[in-house]
Amino acid sequence: MRTGVWLVGARGSVATTSIVGALALRAGLTGPTGCVTELSELRGPAWPSFADLVFGGHDVAATPLAKRAEALADAGVVPARLVAALGEELAAVDDDVRPAPVGGTQADRAAAVVADLAAFRGRHGLDRVVVVNVSATEPAARPHPAHADPDALAAALAAGEEVLPPSSLYAYAAFTAGCPYVDFTPSTGARLPALAALAARHAVPYAGHDGKTGETLLKSVLAPMFAMRHLAVRSWSGTNLLGGGDGATLAQPDANAAKVASKQRVLGEILGYVPQGDTRIDYVEELGDFKTAWDLITFAGFLGTGMRLEFTWHGCDSALAAPLVLDLARITAAAHAAGRHGPLTDLAFFFKDPLGPADSGPDAGATADRAPGHALGEQWARLAAFAADLHAGAGTPPAGGAA
Ligand SMILES: NC(=O)c1ccc[n+]([C@@H]2O[C@H](COP(=O)([O-])OP(=O)(O)OC[C@H]3O[C@@H](n4cnc5c(N)ncnc54)[C@H](O)[C@@H]3O)[C@@H](O)[C@H]2O)c1
Repeated sequence: MRTGVWLVGARGSVATTSIVGALALRAGLTGPTGCVTELSELRGPAWPSFADLVFGGHDVAATPLAKRAEALADAGVVPARLVAALGEELAAVDDDVRPAPVGGTQADRAAAVVADLAAFRGRHGLDRVVVVNVSATEPAARPHPAHADPDALAAALAAGEEVLPPSSLYAYAAFTAGCPYVDFTPSTGARLPALAALAARHAVPYAGHDGKTGETLLKSVLAPMFAMRHLAVRSWSGTNLLGGGDGATLAQPDANAAKVASKQRVLGEILGYVPQGDTRIDYVEELGDFKTAWDLITFAGFLGTGMRLEFTWHGCDSALAAPLVLDLARITAAAHAAGRHGPLTDLAFFFKDPLGPADSGPDAGATADRAPGHALGEQWARLAAFAADLHAGAGTPPAGGAA
């Protein structure tokens, strides 16, 4: 199944690491560490192979991919030997990275994205193209009446109005072109009623939001433990320090607020109450793509005895995110091939702020039967069942069976 992976933000850290990783996997130069679709519980015939993935995308930046990859190698994010070995392949992918459309109306720019997607699909003889948003985090979208339904949206766009944030314009173009869409960022993306209805009209699936790779991943494992042992979490405070392009974007208050909101939802949902404390994100240029999270949790046990847990996480953000981008592209492509459409709520495992029933628009009931939850163990079980279903439909059961 030849599958296009169209990365919005194709020259960013996550995108470049994803492309280097996929090319290295295809060449047999590295293993699939971090790719959950290669675990025995999830592996199977429904996924396109790594060799079947063809990359392209949009970016506002013009730095060639090979240069971005060299910069990531200098920063210790990807091995320099891989970047050196994959120079030709990276240049070939670069030919499929288009400048993000600028100028004209939003309708003009959406039409340009649709044309780029169609040309990419035709050029490479692809069965389908999955659009994955890994571009810079945007501020929360300003509400507009045209967000409510696809006809109002079409009318506003036809009238030359600017009604969508960039991530949603890409989702609009993806659906119009018949492509599934994955939002790895906290931006609005497909999370508007008009876009949910448009996805239903075009019978395409979509997934999101905001890849779960660091502090929130730990919260989604530790918080269920406190809940299951009936321990009372009194406070949970976290400080995240990061550099890189993402860190620079998150230094801006609006984007920072969107990200912090997406990180904070997890605790309240898992514990059933919100403990004291805040999550902070601070930009430290020197740290580059490596993130440090410090969390302090105070909790009470039997007879009110106070205790505390502290953890420090040093993660390489792009190395944690890139394999998940490849997983999401493979699973979403398989879901599309199997005729699934609407929000893929079974992919909550990957996200800080997963799509749920409220995001399902006219598809309610088809795929969004119940809230996906935030606890990693439950999300894993749902993902494994979903994978088993797709593999069964594709012919052979998964190698290791479903969990
Ligand atoms: N790395 C992680 O662990 C992780 C986890 C969850 C979410 N994310 C999200 O993934 C996204 C990418 O992170 P990153 O570290 O690669 O950031 P980055 O700043 O390195 O890359 C973002 C890219 O998007 C491009 N871009 C900006 N506006 C655009 C537009 N309108 N159209 C097309 N391209 C555009 C930029 O030029 C840049 O190349 C961020 O939104 C981040 O919050 C990352």
